Amino acid sequence: MPKNKNNKTIWSARINDNTSSLFQKIGNSINIDKRLYNEDIEGSIAHVEMLFKQKIISFKIKNKIIFGLNKIKKEISGKKFEFHEKYEDIHINIEKRLFQIIGEEAGYIHTGRSRNDQVITDFKIWIKGATKEINFLLDKIINSTLKLAEKNIETIMPGFTHLKNAQAVSFAHYLMAYVEMFNRDRKRFTNNLENLNENPLGVAALTGTSFNIDRTYTSKKLGFTKPTNNSIDTVSDRDFVLDFLYSVSVCSMHISRIAEELIIWNSEAFNLINLSDKIVTGSSIMPQKKNPDLLEYLRGKTGINYGNLFSMLTILKGLPLSYFKDLQDDKEIIFKSNDILINCLKIFDEILKNFTPNKKRMLELADSGYITATDFADYLVKNHTMSFRKAYHKTAALVNLAEKKRKNLNQLTMDELKKIEPKLSINALKVFDLKNSVNSKKSYGGTSFDNIKKMIMKYKKRK
Ligand code: ARG
Repeated sequence: MPKNKNNKTIWSARINDNTSSLFQKIGNSINIDKRLYNEDIEGSIAHVEMLFKQKIISFKIKNKIIFGLNKIKKEISGKKFEFHEKYEDIHINIEKRLFQIIGEEAGYIHTGRSRNDQVITDFKIWIKGATKEINFLLDKIINSTLKLAEKNIETIMPGFTHLKNAQAVSFAHYLMAYVEMFNRDRKRFTNNLENLNENPLGVAALTGTSFNIDRTYTSKKLGFTKPTNNSIDTVSDRDFVLDFLYSVSVCSMHISRIAEELIIWNSEAFNLINLSDKIVTGSSIMPQKKNPDLLEYLRGKTGINYGNLFSMLTILKGLPLSYFKDLQDDKEIIFKSNDILINCLKIFDEILKNFTPNKKRMLELADSGYITATDFADYLVKNHTMSFRKAYHKTAALVNLAEKKRKNLNQLTMDELKKIEPKLSINALKVFDLKNSVNSKKSYGGTSFDNIKKMIMKYKKRK
């Protein structure tokens, strides 16, 4: 890069003294927002094309500026660009370099715009890209979960409430619950696009501009659907940042809940799943250990993402309209949350491919805790004309009897069962069969094998 002849700050014409070197060092954001260089250049090109179309700048100046911007883009992507902290941020770093490349005509680029609208334009474009990447990874996770579910439709395990055996379920049904969660995440991120698709460019510092600009034109050029409505709101608004951080937090929370579940299932006490050696780590002292560190990583990072959401909410609380330096931190917060989530999504996909259900143990555990008691109560309602509440009481008596005899429900004799309901037929024994129990839940959204198969198909066909 040639020696910088134009190395004064933009505001040196007004502000006589140099900014304190301490503030210059800590108040700049270049090492964070340089990540927006592509979006910044894209926004600037659309802006100058619009300025030319509106006859605000000449054809020659427009072309010179675009030539310079493309050169800068190459320099930055080729790691040949020298970023300067004294130029604060990506916007001024690029503008300063443009002066070096094309000379004084670079001064036309900032006609009818401000860094205030420039930065949000860049940021919105960036978040739209990030949303796309997250949705792509969520899609991958959904596909991996569907694959695992397909293999486990008839794998029976206990379903829990309060971590106590509740009713038997298919392992695939459990996995399909995760699919619902990740699909909602995808929708949540997609819903954010409505606000992200409003173009901030052209609201300038806070009032709009007296130049005859065309914001609809730049909207189209930059892939926005329409210009924002109010210039003051536009430079003040960081709702789209909160939406993204909230969506990241909810998605992280989903991953964390599942991670916690897998940690519990992987414990010796439960022993419901086996993690492959790829996703465990050892202990420095206990030679036998295989610890689920990766799952714990996922759970831990969720806390950081919640913190980021709260940082941003707190920055905005009590901030008057419109732009204030406080807002500069929005980018660091989002980049961090985004990077954490991307890592977590990638790790979680690895985990899905690296654990197997311990089917024998799942069935064994499902066969304890009187898990078919509700099935028996339902049977009484259907076959012995009584209300559910009455059947519930009779079944509770049956469970008490089984407990006293130290038997499972399916080990009770016909005589013992008849103590509870004298008219009971041998048919009643079927309700204690776990597979029957799972498959009988045919109500929409229930755990019957057919329901699960249909749901897997539905998700496989999704667009
Ligand atoms: N780097 C700044 C930020 O990210 C850009 C906007 C600066 N505007 C200003 N009036 N100082 O917030």
